[in-house]
Amino acid sequence: MVASDLTCLPGLWRCSIQGPGLSRNAERKRGLLFFVLTVLHFLECAWSQSELQPFCPASCECSEAAKTVKCVNKNLTDVPQTFPSYVENLIITNNIIVSLRDGAFNQSLKNLSHLNLNGNHIQKLENDSLSYLSSLKQLDLSNNELQIMGSLSFGRSSSSLQELNLSNSFKNESLIYMLGLAIKTGALNSLEKLKLSGNDIMFLPNGTFSSVPNLKHLDLSNNSLMGLSADLFMDLSNLVSLNLSHNSLKWLTNPTLFTQRRLEIYLDDNNWVCNCFIEDFATWLKTTKIVNDPHSLMCSDPENLKGMPVLELQISELECPIPEENTSLQTSYVFLGIVLALIGVIFLLVLYLNRKGIKKWMYNIRDACRDHMEGYHYRYEINADPRLTNLSTNSDV
Ligand SMILES: *[C@@H]1O[C@H](CO)[C@@H](O)[C@H](O)[C@H]1NC(C)=O
Ligand SMILES: *[C@@H]1O[C@H](CO)[C@@H](O)[C@H](O)[C@H]1NC(C)=O
Ligand SMILES: *[C@@H]1O[C@H](CO)[C@@H](O)[C@H](O)[C@H]1NC(C)=O
Ligand SMILES: *[C@@H]1O[C@H](CO)[C@@H](O)[C@H](O)[C@H]1NC(C)=O
Ligand SMILES: *[C@@H]1O[C@H](CO)[C@@H](O)[C@H](O)[C@H]1NC(C)=O
Ligand SMILES: *[C@@H]1O[C@H](CO)[C@@H](O)[C@H](O)[C@H]1NC(C)=O
Ligand SMILES: *[C@@H]1O[C@H](CO)[C@@H](O)[C@H](O)[C@H]1NC(C)=O
Ligand SMILES: *[C@@H]1O[C@H](CO)[C@@H](O)[C@H](O)[C@H]1NC(C)=O
Ligand SMILES: *[C@@H]1O[C@H](CO)[C@@H](O)[C@H](O)[C@H]1NC(C)=O
Repeated sequence: MVASDLTCLPGLWRCSIQGPGLSRNAERKRGLLFFVLTVLHFLECAWSQSELQPFCPASCECSEAAKTVKCVNKNLTDVPQTFPSYVENLIITNNIIVSLRDGAFNQSLKNLSHLNLNGNHIQKLENDSLSYLSSLKQLDLSNNELQIMGSLSFGRSSSSLQELNLSNSFKNESLIYMLGLAIKTGALNSLEKLKLSGNDIMFLPNGTFSSVPNLKHLDLSNNSLMGLSADLFMDLSNLVSLNLSHNSLKWLTNPTLFTQRRLEIYLDDNNWVCNCFIEDFATWLKTTKIVNDPHSLMCSDPENLKGMPVLELQISELECPIPEENTSLQTSYVFLGIVLALIGVIFLLVLYLNRKGIKKWMYNIRDACRDHMEGYHYRYEINADPRLTNLSTNSDV
């Protein structure tokens, strides 16, 4: 304010020093002019002063009272450059921001605590794209199309983030590894709630959750997990709820490794395979108290046990699957047969194409044989005694 007032002063001063030796009338006019100029300058200075304050971005609605800025459904292709500094709650949803670049939120948004980036078609989270938000508590990145996440997207060391929603946003099966790397930097060590549902996750690499010690709620529902090692959750000593419903789990090995006291696990809607491998899990299920609604867990395989509650299985009667070796052996025999038949066909074809040569060759051999036989006859006749010679010549005729 002080600086801009000083720039305005010279103009006023120039007006006021003009005019010694003018008439009283002219002096009155001069006073009026001075007044008008003062008002004009005041307005101009106020205007330029307001320009120094960041405006509400063109595609957004801002409410200072609610400390909220909304940029919803505006086809934005990038995060606006400036926001009012009062913003605590920033909602940028349903736009087309393909990449969240390094320093996208590099303005001094010191008080920003809630950031919603839901449904923006974001494919790439660059390193440091979200690093500079020092008060961020809740981040919603759900319903995006992430293919690349830099390991430093959330920063290089601890951040204030408590809730992260990444539901329905993974479009690359390597993304769970990339998230694991981002977690390992320690940048998410304040996280209490993590949502990863609907991401088609098939496998959770060992150590994925090694550096989120404060995690209380983990949602892995609606993925394609077939198995888990309980080691994965070993470091999560504060875990309160673990949602694994709507996956493809067949059984859990070592379920007894879930040692968190207050934990509640949701396991409904999976593909439990009720053969001898489920023994440990079924036995555990009968005694544990941490599985929510254990009666709802049904076998989906084998055919004769389909729909049977896992809790009601007679463990001693579970069958072990017949090894599928035979069928693979059969297919390899079929394959061998086809190869042999092909070789045979090719051999016959070669013979057929060479039939003239072969005929000639056979004639040659026959002639050679005949010559040989004749020679043999001849020698035989010479060496034999006359009686036998007569006999043989008779039989030849
Ligand atoms: C966004 O783009 C779509 C399709 O191009 C168009 O129909 C829509 O009116 C645009 N919305 C705005 C707010 O410009
Ligand atoms: C940020 O929040 C603090 C404490 O609530 C407040 O004193 C400060 O004025 C806020 N900053 C801005 C730019 O609104
Ligand atoms: C963002 O700001 C930080 C410090 O405030 C600076 O170190 C960094 O280079 C900036 N990054 C970009 C991309 O502007
Ligand atoms: C992020 O930074 C890490 C470490 O410097 C680097 O290995 C990685 O390639 C970067 N990722 C992206 C997407 O820039
Ligand atoms: C994402 O999760 C947060 C809580 O962590 C929740 O408030 C928000 O509604 C979720 N977003 C969607 C789109 O479900
Ligand atoms: C998925 O991630 C991997 C590993 O970073 C990368 O090589 C690949 O190009 C990504 N796929 C797509 C479709 O971007
Ligand atoms: C499950 O995830 C798929 C995407 O993988 C999504 O389309 C679907 O709406 C999700 N279902 C539920 C019940 O959340
Ligand atoms: C997973 O990592 C933990 C240490 O982080 C280790 O104790 C455990 O043996 C590993 N499990 C497997 C299957 O590699
Ligand atoms: C677990 O996930 C399923 C499917 O996404 C959802 O319907 C259910 O409400 C979740 N349960 C809890 C306790 O969060």
